[in-house]
Amino acid sequence: MAIQVQVDKHIAKITIDRQGALNALNRETLTQLQEAIRQINERDDVRAVLFMGAGLKSFVAGADIAEMVTLDPIQGHGVAELGQSVFNDIANIKCPTIAVIQGYALGGGCELSLACDCRIASEKAKFGQPEVGLGIIPGFGGTQRLARLVGPGQAKRLIFTGEIITGAQALAIGLVDQLVQPEQLMEQAEKLAESICTKSPNAVRMAKEAIDQGLMGTLSEGLRLEAGLFGLCFASPEQKEGMSAFLEKRAVSFE
Ligand code: CAA
Repeated sequence: MAIQVQVDKHIAKITIDRQGALNALNRETLTQLQEAIRQINERDDVRAVLFMGAGLKSFVAGADIAEMVTLDPIQGHGVAELGQSVFNDIANIKCPTIAVIQGYALGGGCELSLACDCRIASEKAKFGQPEVGLGIIPGFGGTQRLARLVGPGQAKRLIFTGEIITGAQALAIGLVDQLVQPEQLMEQAEKLAESICTKSPNAVRMAKEAIDQGLMGTLSEGLRLEAGLFGLCFASPEQKEGMSAFLEKRAVSFE
């Protein structure tokens, strides 16, 4: 299996492991990834999901070029639809998702990280959308999600030139949120996930929904949604627990 899933103490780790191809995503791997996400979605105990690439050299080096070289337009469209469907599933995971990036995050690999809520990277990570050099465009959401995250100017520069940038450059344009020394990557990613796991899972999910849905509409639509979800938080025992613990000056427990 090219996809490994491990769940421990509310944190799921999904690892893409095709090290011989720098974890490039072929159709089989994408299908396995989709199945892993379906299984994670069925679990109530998961509060954060980490996406990782196996080995030190690469997060994911993109879609599998060897598998795409002979495709016709209909098959090419099918590959984009499959990749987009899997990455939409990642974006729609209800709890927070974190891309943990060491080495190459290129093409579909960069796009996978864009489908996650947060991106934490090693100082040795390399990012890029090199597709135009292959005669194609990003097809797993890159033209849309990259522009929304870093703005159209930076997205166009990266996509038109195919330039591979360093972790520090990615941090400077907001493509990653946190840059750490390579040997601290896993520890810091786990710390981030653990910190999320100590909070009200219901509130965290509502906050994610408010931000993601809100960004798709106008400010006034987003504010209306926020007020609705804010009200809904009061239907959860977690709101009672969170506020009571504060007032009673005791540690909160969302177990
Ligand atoms: N697809 C298939 N195989 C890949 C691959 C990919 N995206 N990336 C790397 N590999 C394979 C190589 O073919 C090589 O296989 P062999 O050992 O069998 O020859 C192996 O992984 C190791 O790669 P390299 O020898 O090239 O390693 P390197 O250190 O010299 O270079 C690299 C590393 C710069 C990442 C280089 O491998 C590279 O440029 N890879 C392609 C990156 C790319 O263009 N990604 C975009 C793909 S298209 C896409 O993703 C479309 C989309 O939007 C969905």
